Amino acid sequence: MTTLPTSRIIDGKAFAEGLRRRVAEAAADFLSRSGRAPGLAVVLAGEDPASSVYVRNKAQQTVEAGMASFEHRLPAETGEAELLALVARLNADDAVDGILVQLPLPAHIDAQKVIEAIDPAKDVDGFHPENAGRLMTGLPALVPCTPLGCLMLIKSIEPALAGLEAVVVGRSNIVGKPMAQLLLAESCTVTVAHSKTRDLPAVCRRADILVAAVGRPQMVRGDWVKPGAIVIDVGINRIPAPERGEGKTRLVGDVAYDEAVQHAGAITPVPGGVGPMTIACLLRNTLAAAVARTGVVVDVPSA
Ligand code: GUN
Repeated sequence: MTTLPTSRIIDGKAFAEGLRRRVAEAAADFLSRSGRAPGLAVVLAGEDPASSVYVRNKAQQTVEAGMASFEHRLPAETGEAELLALVARLNADDAVDGILVQLPLPAHIDAQKVIEAIDPAKDVDGFHPENAGRLMTGLPALVPCTPLGCLMLIKSIEPALAGLEAVVVGRSNIVGKPMAQLLLAESCTVTVAHSKTRDLPAVCRRADILVAAVGRPQMVRGDWVKPGAIVIDVGINRIPAPERGEGKTRLVGDVAYDEAVQHAGAITPVPGGVGPMTIACLLRNTLAAAVARTGVVVDVPSA
């Protein structure tokens, strides 16, 4: 009988708790040095149930980290001009260090226009073209939260990334592209694969670090994973789970976990892997923005 290699399960929930604790300590330092807490404004337009849950969790964790939370819930019919006017008010408000406009926005609002209206110094999502350009050119930048969280998890397993082969599956502005830039900045050899990539399994098999961010349930199979690779699964997909009863569902990633865990050196589970890192990194970015805007010196956790 062959023994299978044992894979290390990357505990994103525990890592995120530790990160939030470090951010909370630094936020307390910031408060004692500046006389105010770092502040995060979150804007939700419409009643999308998933977005509503995210926004509630963000506000709750912001307060738990000792930061000021400003929540703006607008009706779905809110006009683009009204939303842009709110962003302008938040840009001008000194108590607000970070601004996050929850996506997706209602269809009648041009999301790109809203993203570009946010002061880049307060753009804690890192979606503004100025921050994207700064990341690409190696300048200090606010970096999108999910790929930043992924990099932290990768470096918790392997701090020395130079020269490693990294494959990022997915080319979104929110995850794939900034993830590729972060790994390139760590001197990885980076391939960005996507829906038009030829022989995707063979491309993935080259990866020492494999990041799946495509939004397709369990697309990455076990035999796509190089033995010993670090596998980061960004996907959060809800699929039917009739074994749990009629009409029941469960969450799965973009990686077929039960297969991949047989090959990977380390792998993130879904749930409990990348997911919890996103809000923790949002709090980290809010602290970083507060520090950069004010010059107050506190210890900002980094990847
Ligand atoms: N919707 C889903 N994820 C995100 C995110 O990271 N930022 C924003 N603004 N909206 C989202």
